[in-house]
Amino acid sequence: MSSYQRKQSPGNTDWFVNDRFGMFIHFGLYSLAARHEWVMSKEAVPEEKYKRYTKYFDPDMFNADEWAQYAENAGMKYAVLTTRHHEGFALFDTKYSDYKITNTPFGRDLVKEYCDAFRAHGLKVGFYYSLLDWQHPDYTIDRFHPRRFDADAVEQNEKRDMHKYAEYMRNQLRELMTNYGKIDILWLDFSVKGDENSDNPVKRKGKGPEDWEAEKLLALVRELQPGIIINHRTGIEQDFSTPEQYQPDAWPRDEKTGELLTWETCQTFSGSWGYYRDEQTWKTPQMLIEMLIKTVSLGGNLIMNVGPCARGYIDKRATDMLDAYGKWMKYNSRSIYGCTMAEPEFVAPFGTLLTQSNDGKRLYIHLVSYPFKSLKFTGLAGKVEYAQFLHDASEILFTEDAHGATDHLTMSQGVGDLVFDIPVVRPDVTVPVIEVFLK
Ligand code: GLC
Repeated sequence: MSSYQRKQSPGNTDWFVNDRFGMFIHFGLYSLAARHEWVMSKEAVPEEKYKRYTKYFDPDMFNADEWAQYAENAGMKYAVLTTRHHEGFALFDTKYSDYKITNTPFGRDLVKEYCDAFRAHGLKVGFYYSLLDWQHPDYTIDRFHPRRFDADAVEQNEKRDMHKYAEYMRNQLRELMTNYGKIDILWLDFSVKGDENSDNPVKRKGKGPEDWEAEKLLALVRELQPGIIINHRTGIEQDFSTPEQYQPDAWPRDEKTGELLTWETCQTFSGSWGYYRDEQTWKTPQMLIEMLIKTVSLGGNLIMNVGPCARGYIDKRATDMLDAYGKWMKYNSRSIYGCTMAEPEFVAPFGTLLTQSNDGKRLYIHLVSYPFKSLKFTGLAGKVEYAQFLHDASEILFTEDAHGATDHLTMSQGVGDLVFDIPVVRPDVTVPVIEVFLK
């Protein structure tokens, strides 16, 4: 059994840490702008102008089953969809606002279709819901708000009432938690840090749990969906933390108690979350697969994002990346699902990443840089029963000498070293994996 104990949390994260790999989906009116999901803030577009996108929102090629099929093929086990992003536009049929998908030419409740399709593919279903809302009349103007440059922003804020806004969020979340069956994950986003150095009061004031009335909000969600897990971004710790677009180099811990946190890193293929036509910063399949392995090697989950284009399909640049995941996962997912950080007694040889099955019985050595002929693993002698490549179950021979003798045919060995015999011809696998059956 793995010796790593994670910090207890209100929800049950057992399935989550077993599944390890999910799909994030960012879709909204910003998909039409195709130049970042923050376009409304970045370009300071006032709400009446931004709302013109509703007239043109018609993802005629949207097919929830196709999205789900891509996720399944990539080896993803759960998904999280932006039911509403910072722009405030709902992809579901809400009673509490007219700013919603059913009032566009598309006219259908996309959230409903997403839930049905992803469940049918055996995937767990999650909702992202933005705490920010740049068009709601009661949401106060802050440093990110499109109206932050208005000369009368301070006066406008006096008329805005965050209590009403918090109630509005509870109303929408009640709908989301009631009308769509069992929801496995809720991803709330995010508490705004104020700009302390600014002398502009609008920019100085941040927003946190009190503004969202987060305690009430969380209690409501837990009451309606007792099995759900929730992220930390209201500012009140819940079930998992979410390092964004960076790769931690150690298992994240609770700052006060030092306990290991349940964590999920969220990453993109190209930098932005929403569809961005002109973005050129696409990652390579090698980087993406390494990201997944590295995350699990530190006891975490990876949620990888797709931003479908405004016609509703996932474009080729993204499906190529999903295919790369799928191709690797088809043969190597055993080193990901049900795996975690290897026990401290196993120290990864240079150029490798390790994971270990939760029952402790198998160790996975990911050959990130492919070694020539042999791979020495210090301290592994005497612990291995059998070894094979994971992708084709071909035996990997090894020599070991727990007594410190030298094997002239391979390389010098110290006490406890084990040396794997690696074929010179690199298998055609993005990252080859050695599966080690431990004694
Ligand atoms: C953020 C961004 C956002 C994205 C999210 C995903 O904080 O505001 O656009 O949806 O992170 O992690």
